[in-house]
Amino acid sequence: MIGPLLLPLLFTAVIGSPHHNECRCRPTDKCWPSTKEWTALNKTLNGNLAAVRPAAFVCHAPDYNAEACQVVKDSWSNSVWRSSQAGAIQWENWEAWPERDQSCYVESPEDSVCQQGRISLFSANVQSAKDIQHAVRFAGNHNLRLVIKNSGHDFLGRSAAPESLQILTHSMTDIEMLDNFIPKGGKKSEGTAMRIGAGVQLPEMYVAAAKQGRAIVAGAAHTVGAAGGYIQGGGHSPFGQWKGLASDNALEFEVVVADGSLVTANAYQNRDLFWALRGGGGGTFGVVTRVTIRTFEDVPVVAYNFNMTTAGGDPRFWDVFTEWHSALPSINDGGGSGYYYGFPNLPLSATESVSTIFALLFFTEKTSVAEVDALFQPLASKLRQMGNVQVVNESIAFPSIISTASTLILGGSADSTGRTSMLASRLYSKDLMLTPNGPRRLANAIKSIKWDPGHEFIGHVVAGGAVATNGETIDSAINPAWRRTISHLLFARSWKAAETTPAQQAAIIRNMTDVEIPILRSVEGEDQMGAYLNEANGYEPDFQASFWGRNYPRLYRIKQKWDPEGLFITRKGVGSEDWDDAGLCRRGH
Ligand SMILES: Cc1cc2nc3c(=O)[nH]c(=O)nc-3n(C[C@H](O)[C@H](O)[C@H](O)COP(=O)(O)OP(=O)(O)OC[C@H]3O[C@@H](n4cnc5c(N)ncnc54)[C@H](O)[C@@H]3O)c2cc1C
Ligand SMILES: *[C@@H]1O[C@H](CO)[C@@H](O)[C@H](O)[C@H]1NC(C)=O
Ligand SMILES: *[C@@H]1O[C@H](CO)[C@@H](O)[C@H](O)[C@H]1NC(C)=O
Ligand SMILES: *[C@@H]1O[C@H](CO)[C@@H](O)[C@H](O)[C@H]1NC(C)=O
Ligand SMILES: *[C@@H]1O[C@H](CO)[C@@H](O)[C@H](O)[C@H]1NC(C)=O
Repeated sequence: MIGPLLLPLLFTAVIGSPHHNECRCRPTDKCWPSTKEWTALNKTLNGNLAAVRPAAFVCHAPDYNAEACQVVKDSWSNSVWRSSQAGAIQWENWEAWPERDQSCYVESPEDSVCQQGRISLFSANVQSAKDIQHAVRFAGNHNLRLVIKNSGHDFLGRSAAPESLQILTHSMTDIEMLDNFIPKGGKKSEGTAMRIGAGVQLPEMYVAAAKQGRAIVAGAAHTVGAAGGYIQGGGHSPFGQWKGLASDNALEFEVVVADGSLVTANAYQNRDLFWALRGGGGGTFGVVTRVTIRTFEDVPVVAYNFNMTTAGGDPRFWDVFTEWHSALPSINDGGGSGYYYGFPNLPLSATESVSTIFALLFFTEKTSVAEVDALFQPLASKLRQMGNVQVVNESIAFPSIISTASTLILGGSADSTGRTSMLASRLYSKDLMLTPNGPRRLANAIKSIKWDPGHEFIGHVVAGGAVATNGETIDSAINPAWRRTISHLLFARSWKAAETTPAQQAAIIRNMTDVEIPILRSVEGEDQMGAYLNEANGYEPDFQASFWGRNYPRLYRIKQKWDPEGLFITRKGVGSEDWDDAGLCRRGH
């Protein structure tokens, strides 16, 4: 494939295409809104429109300001700060625009010019659905590149776009607890539910639910927003084995669609949109203003930590890896879900290193540590028989999901971001682990990846159980592979922002798309399984099949129906193949 980062913008206006807007209106174009028009928009937004510069602009000449710059430096890796800034998203590489060699890194010298990169030019800090309608209509009328930023966590750069108008949903943080939720247009109560505004973040939901003795299915992060990319992308959770994906538990969406109207999508009305919003990906079908999700009675949890360690570089580490994956189906069927972190090469000191897998699994609605420990005994005895494998475990019985989450998932107050990050990931099936030699094939694939000291892979055991069985009753846009998944496995590559040239960055990414992802894919064959669209490579090859499998054609049709002009385009999102990489000009048809 062509190096994605160096691909020039070949596709500008295409003559003879049926669409009238071949390119977005850009600041240098005559069609760009006048100051008067921006001012009018600002007025309808009650003064909440801002002209935006990248957060680090105060660290560069001619705008250098020592005091302001120090604040930026101190906040740089704090996700809470990043989530609130119009001029920042979470990952530095998506703030920059390497295709144009534009960046504004805090690490760059003071005398280097701060360039806008992919940071939006204007931001509408919306407070209500009405504000969102104003901003969407303005973007539609002026043919602007529109982008929605919630927390800015997206690993594929979907919450930033060059020369765009940003809708910042961060301020919409209302939470309502509902005892008897009847979807609009329906008759039957869905029981207890929680209705959240577009800007609500996961910890706020856990806490609001717990106040009423309730629990929710949500992920493990401090500042990820629930209503945006998380639920619309599927949303995995350490409690998913118990109650399914977050999107399985979404009951109703309120959405501002491309023509500016506010519609309700649920099982009774706008059902195609309801289907698409549960897994079709954020930023694609409209701006969700509120989502209503199920809540459940809070229940106890046994948390179980299991570590498997060999001497650094001992080839038996890959036997450990194989046995661990062979054991996963029985552990997952026994209620286990959570995460495992593998370090093929983990230095402990200048002279000593280990190879290790550190697993932290949650058994929801369980109280017996002995019962959980018994699930690990067959694996533990196999590993001990290998010799020279250190196996240790520790477990805690928690009285509730909220106590589990606050102790083990939400410790600290922020996620560590503010660096570069590019992922490679794959969903692997339970069937693979039950196939003779399947886990061994996976081990051989992962072994062939280059593992630098301290570099880790993360396995997410966030499917099976209800995620699998919900597939029998819930029809939604999520990748059907999720219903067969046992592990969502990923690793990240990172580089020093200011010291790595765009060409070097492109080479790292190209090796991921051309060498490393094919290694991950090869384990189950090209047409099996896929990848989780929220935690995948930003240049994922053949993304339509990877992220949605057989659901893609239906998603594409729904996209054309609700957004025929392509106002909502995100990187590697539904319909994005019709646009160039920056979403600025249509590709030829
Ligand atoms: C530290 C960390 C932990 C994570 N943990 C988990 C986890 O446990 N489980 C999991 O499944 N994922 C997890 N993720 C991945 C996460 O789901 C994605 O990064 C997701 O895109 C974040 O959504 P957001 O709305 O907060 O982010 P943003 O980057 O702001 O938005 C993501 C996408 O959604 C769109 N969007 C945002 N708001 C709206 C809206 N109101 N309407 C329509 N579109 C909108 C944006 O345009 C963009 O396309 C994690 C990520 C990080 C960085
Ligand atoms: C919008 O109005 C507010 C309040 O009057 C002002 O502070 C802000 O600078 C304006 N934004 C733009 C882009 O002019
Ligand atoms: C977990 O640790 C306890 C206490 O050391 C031990 O008795 C038990 O056998 C261990 N379980 C496994 C599966 O190794
Ligand atoms: C497993 O390893 C992790 C990471 O090194 C460590 O925090 C944890 O305490 C270990 N658990 C046990 C039971 O030793
Ligand atoms: C590409 O990736 C493979 C697998 O991780 C690695 O062995 C190789 O060194 C990488 N090549 C380059 C040029 O980075």
